[in-house]
Amino acid sequence: DWTMAGYREQAIAAIRDQVGDAKVICGLSGGVDSSVAAVLIHEAIGDQLTCVFVDHGLLRQGEAEEVVTMFRDNYNMPLIHADEQELFLGELDGVSDPETKRKIIGRLFIDVFQKHATAVGDAKFLAQGTLYPDVIESVSFSGGPSVTIKSHHNVGGLPEKMGLKLVEPLRELFKDEVRALGRELGLPPSFIGRHPFPGPGLAIRCPGEITREKLAILRKADAVYIDQIRRHGLYDDIWQAFVAILPVRTVGVMGDGRTYDFACALRAVTSVDGMTADYFPFTHDFLGETATRIINEVPGINRVTYDITSKPPGTIEWE
Ligand code: XMP
Repeated sequence: DWTMAGYREQAIAAIRDQVGDAKVICGLSGGVDSSVAAVLIHEAIGDQLTCVFVDHGLLRQGEAEEVVTMFRDNYNMPLIHADEQELFLGELDGVSDPETKRKIIGRLFIDVFQKHATAVGDAKFLAQGTLYPDVIESVSFSGGPSVTIKSHHNVGGLPEKMGLKLVEPLRELFKDEVRALGRELGLPPSFIGRHPFPGPGLAIRCPGEITREKLAILRKADAVYIDQIRRHGLYDDIWQAFVAILPVRTVGVMGDGRTYDFACALRAVTSVDGMTADYFPFTHDFLGETATRIINEVPGINRVTYDITSKPPGTIEWE
């Protein structure tokens, strides 16, 4: 793709121009965006870049290992694996308001990046994989008055007092363009095809208070759901799929006993850029089989629902 080859050259020149010989840290989430940003910046400035992967305790099953392994195996890039689970889960304890959750997480990310920026030898820049839709959606609702629907943790200004400036080489791109750039840069196809995963992670898929118990149940249910989607060959037809654990227990019957466990909602959507979305038309057989598997394989869940809301009026994530 000659356009992307051209974009790559131009972006590399712009990054070199912006950062000079300063050090840069890049927040790596394991998603396509930050991975592409990291590889592009590495190509531009080599060892001036250090990546920081923050484990906030809100990752999916096996995610931290997958991301760290993929980067260590494929790229010779300095990578810090920051285990900050206690910090994030501690500050989120007892919090149920969605915007409050997002703001706490955004603030803690900045604290953690600042800490590592100092530790790597006074980095001057923080790189992020911010895309064009993140920029618009965090500012206004299209067509209407300027209203914040959700605070995106990786957008907007950094606090003035913070010594870091932002490097955001993907700010003008849409998701499909980032994937094309990723292919151009030679990222593994398995990585390029990954569904988006939000910075606040499982926090926004756990409406109400976040507890370690709920997170553990959610991780298991999500893994079964994604396994089902892969087994049925549907992963690449879906923009994003995940489970949300609901803040309600319901009564069920299993074997000859009564159960009183959490309900969950399955979400799967098609979309081009995440700004609008339609629910995915699974067959009833698929949904029934998936519900049975989740209830049999995930202790703590006894009821499964499927979310058939499009965006708008819904959003993709539940919070
Ligand atoms: P919504 O829920 O607003 O999500 O329809 C649109 C897309 O953005 C992702 N998302 C986020 N990504 N930080 C991110 O990096 C965030 O704070 C955030 N919030 C939502 C969401 O997963 C979907 O792909």
